[in-house]
Amino acid sequence: MSIVKWSRRAIGLALLAALLGGCAFNGPQSTFSTAGPVAKTQLDLFMLTFWLAVVVFVIVAGALIYILRRYRRKASDGDSLPPQTHGNLVLEIAWTIIPVIFLVIIAVPTVRVIFQLEGRDSSNTEALEVVVTAYQWWWEFEYPELGITTANELRIPVGERIRLKLRSGDVIHSFWVPQLGGKNDNIPGQENEMWLLADEPGIYYGQCAELCLTAHAYMRFRVVAEDAAGFEGWVSAFQNAATQELASEPLVNQGAQLFQQKGCAGCHGVAGVSVGNSKMPNLTNFGLRTSLAAGVLENTPENLADWLRDPQAIKPGNYMPNLGLSNEEIAALVAYLQSLGKPDVQAQAYLGGLDGTR
Ligand code: CUA
Repeated sequence: MSIVKWSRRAIGLALLAALLGGCAFNGPQSTFSTAGPVAKTQLDLFMLTFWLAVVVFVIVAGALIYILRRYRRKASDGDSLPPQTHGNLVLEIAWTIIPVIFLVIIAVPTVRVIFQLEGRDSSNTEALEVVVTAYQWWWEFEYPELGITTANELRIPVGERIRLKLRSGDVIHSFWVPQLGGKNDNIPGQENEMWLLADEPGIYYGQCAELCLTAHAYMRFRVVAEDAAGFEGWVSAFQNAATQELASEPLVNQGAQLFQQKGCAGCHGVAGVSVGNSKMPNLTNFGLRTSLAAGVLENTPENLADWLRDPQAIKPGNYMPNLGLSNEEIAALVAYLQSLGKPDVQAQAYLGGLDGTR
């Protein structure tokens, strides 16, 4: 075999290995690692279709290989044509009916699952409702019955149906939490509905699944599922947020002033502090979130400081400007923002940079 053929094979194998290396059946965004009934029902439907496709493949490929070997032209055949099967009624009927049977086996459960998972299900009226509005490049979660508006983290109680109303504030996005359920689009001027339920407490990772320009790949979010007591605590933290007293740390108070002076309050709403712009992420109880920048970073003082120092370096294209903050200002804003929702916690001063190391 020539060198060219061998090197082609080697490249092909390397590409296949790289491709398969991306497969993980238990990854945090794997549709195979389901954590709720919606995703499980969809996976079961997929597996049914997959195994039927395997059966079809084995039958077709097996018949092809058998026929190619069994009916090969032999030297003794000369130039004569083999017997022709065109117009064989039995064969024609057989290979029309068999695919129809396979399609029916797939179609019946598919239609049943579509109706079962449809958001407008009438048995759904008592479910907790959340309006999910997608913006370039973050998510707003609004709980109309609870009077809560938050961003990028959907908190839900475990074991309860959550009815989602999907909207968009600008272009088409797509809401997707692979472990909890399939994608559904957020379309301007239209409302799509779906529901989810998480079986176990945990953090489930979500991602915008529709190309929506610059920061699409960084348009992530999290679903944080908690037991009933944890969820109720979170709700009451929001309902009391407007009257929250600031921690007495001087750094936190300095941060609160900078939040107004530096223009943060013009964009970001914080209950009891600022109205902000409804098309920008609301930061009420920001300290209770596990992530920042729409799920891109863990919510730690170091990461928040990096974000405030140069948001474009972390998430190119986003609408947060570089405010040209000094290290002291960043430290104060970090302490303030991280205290939101947990005023009794000691301010976590971000010290990196204050000693000249950064
Ligand atoms: Cu929003 Cu992609």
